[in-house]
Amino acid sequence: MATTVNAEALNESPLPEAVAKESKQSVDPYNVSGEVGEDGVMKAIDYSKLVDEFGTKRIDPALLERFERLTGQKPHRFLRRGIVFSHRDFDLILDRYERGEPFFLYTGRGPSSDSVHVGHTIPFEFTKWLQEALDCPLVIMLTDDEKYLFSDKRTVEEVQGYCYTNAKDIIAIGFDPAKTFIFSDFEFMGGAFYRNVVRLSKHITLNQSRAIFGFNDSTNIGKIHFGSIQGATSFASSFPHIFGTDETKTNLIPALIPCAIDQDPYFRMARDVAARIHYAKPSLLHSKFLDALQGPGTKMSASVDESAIFMKDTPNQIKNKINKYAFSGGKTTVEEHREKGGDTSVDVSFLYLRFFLEDDEELEKIRLAYESGELLTGDLKAICIKELQTYVKAFQERRAKVDDEIVHQFMDRRPLKWAGNPRAPIVVPQVEGAAGTAAGEAAEGDGKLTKNQLKKLEKQKQIEAKKAQKAKEKEVQPVAAA
Ligand code: TRP
Repeated sequence: MATTVNAEALNESPLPEAVAKESKQSVDPYNVSGEVGEDGVMKAIDYSKLVDEFGTKRIDPALLERFERLTGQKPHRFLRRGIVFSHRDFDLILDRYERGEPFFLYTGRGPSSDSVHVGHTIPFEFTKWLQEALDCPLVIMLTDDEKYLFSDKRTVEEVQGYCYTNAKDIIAIGFDPAKTFIFSDFEFMGGAFYRNVVRLSKHITLNQSRAIFGFNDSTNIGKIHFGSIQGATSFASSFPHIFGTDETKTNLIPALIPCAIDQDPYFRMARDVAARIHYAKPSLLHSKFLDALQGPGTKMSASVDESAIFMKDTPNQIKNKINKYAFSGGKTTVEEHREKGGDTSVDVSFLYLRFFLEDDEELEKIRLAYESGELLTGDLKAICIKELQTYVKAFQERRAKVDDEIVHQFMDRRPLKWAGNPRAPIVVPQVEGAAGTAAGEAAEGDGKLTKNQLKKLEKQKQIEAKKAQKAKEKEVQPVAAA
């Protein structure tokens, strides 16, 4: 069953006071809002319902255990706490990681303003961690075209400007330049990428685009087509400077896309088409949204200052906003609170700590203390303020160091360097030109190997990697010159 869609609404959802009409929960790329009951109050997003409606899978402890076993990394707190809660075919990416077969990370941002808030940084923080844990290439798409097409006011020049400043913000998250390619749609369109855009668009009918995104007869045709652009980035063959030019091989390299759940419709569509044109289907990891200061059921909005903590906010602004606006799960009087305790399920300060406080034990202590009434709202807010101040300050320090040269470094078309799974016993080239099986072909990865065999394979892997690197450098020249 489809979720209600409202493609014409902008993704800056209103705060609860502004809501009055009864309506169903609605989550799609252009509209995110919880169910509104008869009383006109918006409820929190029901993520469990989304998993069922979208047909995705819940991330369960077994999957996380397997991740930890394969990578030797403790799952990120977003995974441990169900903030990244759902997936499509993440297990297939782990299979490939286990066998030493290539895949890449893909995420993106629509550059709609210069005001980046903490909510925007969540998928990027997570992606950075994945890039380190899996040691793989990453492409970051800046959809300047999308933000122009979907806005009545913004000009092309305006979104191009945001693109550049947003790239700086993204870089400040801490991505590795050797493994990361950032591009703007306006700049990168053409060549291999455009060929994939068109291959995709040929397989999407107007009816499908309407059904998936809720478009109607008055929708501009750019919007109707845009899904094929966001989708085509999930194909490795769109990036010959990274993966090589042999499409018989690169078409089989899948993307792993960490994104907020509202982006799923784009990739559902891309997966359908991929299956039909014999490309690798992208895998997905879905995250929840960070609620606005006003509480569950609302989403931080870049255009509503009091709804969000911005990455530009000063320590004092952070303090004042949390103290003034953060919805509290505490009781009205100190006496009542001491007696009955606070409600951590709706308390925004606690909710933010779930996102940003790394230490599980400390978080659990805080939860128990607040629920027992020992900790007052003011105390909880103080802890939250400190944590956010630290997070924002560290970001600002990194951001101050990102100059134009660094932006170019990330946005230049160039080969990337990555090492993959250090323990993978099977050698698979990252680009064509090196010997070995094509990506996607069966490889027996779990046979027991002797120490000597492992050593040999490791050596072979290094030789292959060097060869691949050389081949890559050769291939990239015509592209770079174009
Ligand atoms: N459409 C997204 C936005 O408006 C940007 C985007 C493009 C994206 N590709 C993506 C987000 C892949 C997540 C993953 O912000």
